[in-house]
Amino acid sequence: MAQNTRQFPEDFLWGSATASYQIEGAVAEGGRTPSIWDTFSHTPGKVANGDTGDVADDHYHRFREDVAIMRDLGLRSYRFSVAWPRITPQVTPDALGPVNDEGLDFYRALVAELVAAGIEPAVTLYHWDLPQALEDAGGWAERRTAERFAEYAAVVARALSPQVDTFITLNEPWCSAYLGYASGVHAPGRQDPASALAAVHHLNLAHGLATSAIRAAVPSARVALTLNLAWVHAPDGTAYSDELLASSEGDRDAVRRIDGLQNRVFLDPVMSGRYPADVQHDTAGVTDWSFVRDGDLELVHQVPDVLGLNYYSPTLVRRWDGSSPRQTADGHDASAASPWIACDDVEFPEQPGQHTDMGWAIDPRGMTELLLRLHRDYPGVELMVTENGAAFPDQVSDDGAVHDPARIDYLDQHLAAVLDAIHAGAPVRGYYLWSLLDNFEWSFGYSKRFGVVHVDYDTQARTIKDSGRWYAKVVASGELPTA
Ligand code: FCB
Repeated sequence: MAQNTRQFPEDFLWGSATASYQIEGAVAEGGRTPSIWDTFSHTPGKVANGDTGDVADDHYHRFREDVAIMRDLGLRSYRFSVAWPRITPQVTPDALGPVNDEGLDFYRALVAELVAAGIEPAVTLYHWDLPQALEDAGGWAERRTAERFAEYAAVVARALSPQVDTFITLNEPWCSAYLGYASGVHAPGRQDPASALAAVHHLNLAHGLATSAIRAAVPSARVALTLNLAWVHAPDGTAYSDELLASSEGDRDAVRRIDGLQNRVFLDPVMSGRYPADVQHDTAGVTDWSFVRDGDLELVHQVPDVLGLNYYSPTLVRRWDGSSPRQTADGHDASAASPWIACDDVEFPEQPGQHTDMGWAIDPRGMTELLLRLHRDYPGVELMVTENGAAFPDQVSDDGAVHDPARIDYLDQHLAAVLDAIHAGAPVRGYYLWSLLDNFEWSFGYSKRFGVVHVDYDTQARTIKDSGRWYAKVVASGELPTA
């Protein structure tokens, strides 16, 4: 019988994802202290329309309703993050401080509700809401943040195991480091490239130390790491390959540099125990990398049980020769601080074709390419798509429904791309759709809607979008509908 190319493996894990600051609200309840996102969003001019996460989706109070929605949709797994400032609200760079049981109780109740609904929880330990007290002492540019993170990770793992068996140490350290400390468009909003590279290392160290701490505390736990890797390619089709390390010029050099800063500076130390020499060389004018201490790479080198990939959009790059205005693809002011350190001669041309409401080009090939690259470079490591989805300007129609065919199309194309990778042998175990609910989209506030469930921010009413119904059918049947 011919293979049904639209069919997923039987045990494929179908889920959806959210993050604490984006949905919880209740920022001053349950003993929680401020995070860097509270400070940042309350700083005028940092977030669109002055939006904050103070209320967000009010999920802290409505989590039972939200779990019921997931159960109705038939989801098998839910990836959410734990807000560190709820767990150890008095943390300082020197000591974790007392554990706040009220904070843990919220997540225990959420986990119990999920388990009762037959939904497997997957917990992200850090999705960007760093306790403000740690930022005040240097944040991720400071080594002790990584040490405290590992202690906090073990506390959470001990408290939520065995009901939770998958713990994701970090979500997208690329964003934490470069958007937080170089371009400053994310909290804490610093613009200091040397600090951003120190943050890269301390985030890698945080992953390594936390992995060891979780494994020591709960030997049965599965530890994961979620990276937003980029499929970097040039207009002539050149994509990254290790050959670019040897000879690269022009557009090929642009591909190598961006790949280094986005992919290899995280993958190489965690998976292979070394930093990419070309990245260290390119950035030597910014920092001497002395924050990497003897023995650190052994600590960082903790291969996760599961590698999580977040993929939204491709990354088109080319060498910028200065003869025309520099392009930034997403329309950002090219003269503003860049997240791309030591890449002043790289530009990001707009990729032709369709774009989402974020201005992100739609090209599912990158999903397949990245999954296959991970499979080739790290055979045996399980892969998971921990985020994928799209923002569109959805509205509730007169018929009370939310018709979002563009999102359905996006999801269909990207799930087909995951299937392509699976058929080519990549061990992709599951897929988490970003996002369950419309939510606080960082510096864009509530202006961008990623949910398969619409949220009316005035009433907190939830409306399952057409895409949510579509996804429920895919989950139930385990296959993509044929066109
Ligand atoms: C990812 C983040 C997630 C959400 C999506 C759209 O970078 O992990 O919180 O903002 O993008």
